[in-house]
Amino acid sequence: MRQHRTVLLTRLLAALILALGAGTASAAAAPAPAAPAAPVPLGRVVPVPVSVAPAGSPYTLGDATVIRVDAGSPAAQRVGEWLAALLRPSTGLALPVVAGAGTDGIQLRLGAGDKALGTEGYRLVSGPGTVAVTANAPAGLFHGVQTLRQLLPPSVEERTRQSGPWQVAGGTVRDFPRYPYRGAMLDVARHFFTVEQVKRYVDQLALYKINTLHLHLSDDQGWRIVVDSWPRLATYGGSTEVGGGPGGHFSKADYRDIVAYAASRHMEVVPEIDTPGHTTAALASYAQLNCDGVAPPIYTGTQVGFSSLCVPKAVTYSFLDDVLRELAAMTPGRYLHIGGDEAQSTTAADYATFMGRVQPLVTKRGKTVMAWHQITEARPVAGAVAQYWGMGGTETKLVAAARTGTRVVMSPANHAYLDMKYKAGAPFGTEWAGYVEVDKSYAWDPATLVRQLPASAVLGVEAPLWSETIDNSDEIEYLAFPRLPGIAEIGWSPAATHDWSTYRTRLAAQGPRWDAMGIDYYRSPLVPWPAG
Ligand code: ACM
Repeated sequence: MRQHRTVLLTRLLAALILALGAGTASAAAAPAPAAPAAPVPLGRVVPVPVSVAPAGSPYTLGDATVIRVDAGSPAAQRVGEWLAALLRPSTGLALPVVAGAGTDGIQLRLGAGDKALGTEGYRLVSGPGTVAVTANAPAGLFHGVQTLRQLLPPSVEERTRQSGPWQVAGGTVRDFPRYPYRGAMLDVARHFFTVEQVKRYVDQLALYKINTLHLHLSDDQGWRIVVDSWPRLATYGGSTEVGGGPGGHFSKADYRDIVAYAASRHMEVVPEIDTPGHTTAALASYAQLNCDGVAPPIYTGTQVGFSSLCVPKAVTYSFLDDVLRELAAMTPGRYLHIGGDEAQSTTAADYATFMGRVQPLVTKRGKTVMAWHQITEARPVAGAVAQYWGMGGTETKLVAAARTGTRVVMSPANHAYLDMKYKAGAPFGTEWAGYVEVDKSYAWDPATLVRQLPASAVLGVEAPLWSETIDNSDEIEYLAFPRLPGIAEIGWSPAATHDWSTYRTRLAAQGPRWDAMGIDYYRSPLVPWPAG
């Protein structure tokens, strides 16, 4: 109660200061001071939580607020430091991160005592004395902190001092993901993106509890990762991109930097080397990889389906063994993605032979095979993950593979591909899977999309972003926002919560947050964005 009165007094004082400020700024009729905004309602979060129970008064951050974490947990400490770094510039508060006991402030606690939360779930309890996030593991704390962040006003995302008040609505949120795999893919092959651009996207993904960053590292138009044993892949194969621009590649240190940055946001990197098609950059770099021994010219167009590694040649497999060995050595994550899509220049028999030889090169490094769903036209090895990018939902070989253990990540092109144009005449994107407005990107269910697919085979969802038409962060953001959060919600939130009419209201509330973050999003007319 005493706290509550202090809050009211603080608010009054803030209103008075605002009024006085307005008075000195203009001698003419001063505008009425804006009433302090009410806290963001507890459930107004994307992805929508499993359960939300508003109750009581809000928590208010102030000069005395500390972030309390468990002693002896460096990982919890890091989540606390991450939160403090987010909040300090806009709030102007010191927000020390303190290890140890204490019942006030923002608390990030491990040991939730709630098994159903798993490793990524959390519980958030907010009231006048404290806002506490508890979880079984640091990833849950990090995701809980993303919810806490969305419960603070959008201006908290600004990097300069803002006025507040900084309140978190009172009540309890209990939350955990529907699927363990919630990914986003960035195609750094068609156009190259720098480490800084990738990190910027990682930060945006983290806000929506995405936990996997799939990097499409090679394609016809570019090879983007150093392989020491085959150096021309990067230096020559990475020397251009779609349209003939300068391209680029990641050094091993760059790649490790991205992996570490993603890990600090509780995100796993899945590197993809696309094979046996989509390989002109490699074939152009090394003549011996071609069946006829002649290197093709480097390619800067946007056609697909015309290249293939040479299936009968032994060097194809020693090459891929080297590539996958070096990639595995710098990838702590579980998966190596070997592509396998659009191999139109490889016969079906050769494709099966090829996949039969390449998958063991992944598993012998202790990694799990991931590939586009065409791998189910060959024989996926035990434990493989097929990434569905179709539209028909009638893929019987995918269903057959899933019945014998292949797991499936859902990326239906006509819903989840972030590179589809929103509408005719849109400045960026392609349209081979149709126009995908924000309502369509949200209108699907991973469990029922492919007919007869056992729901238990679905590992999760991924939103791929192909880069034929984009080459900077503004353009990434235009295509990813506002569609990406919907894919994230489909991957995280219970199926029973799926509802466009309530989703669009929650999505609209993200707009001012993106403005504050400098995210250049598509202002879809289907979303009731707040005025301003
Ligand atoms: C793909 O879109 N070719 C996977």
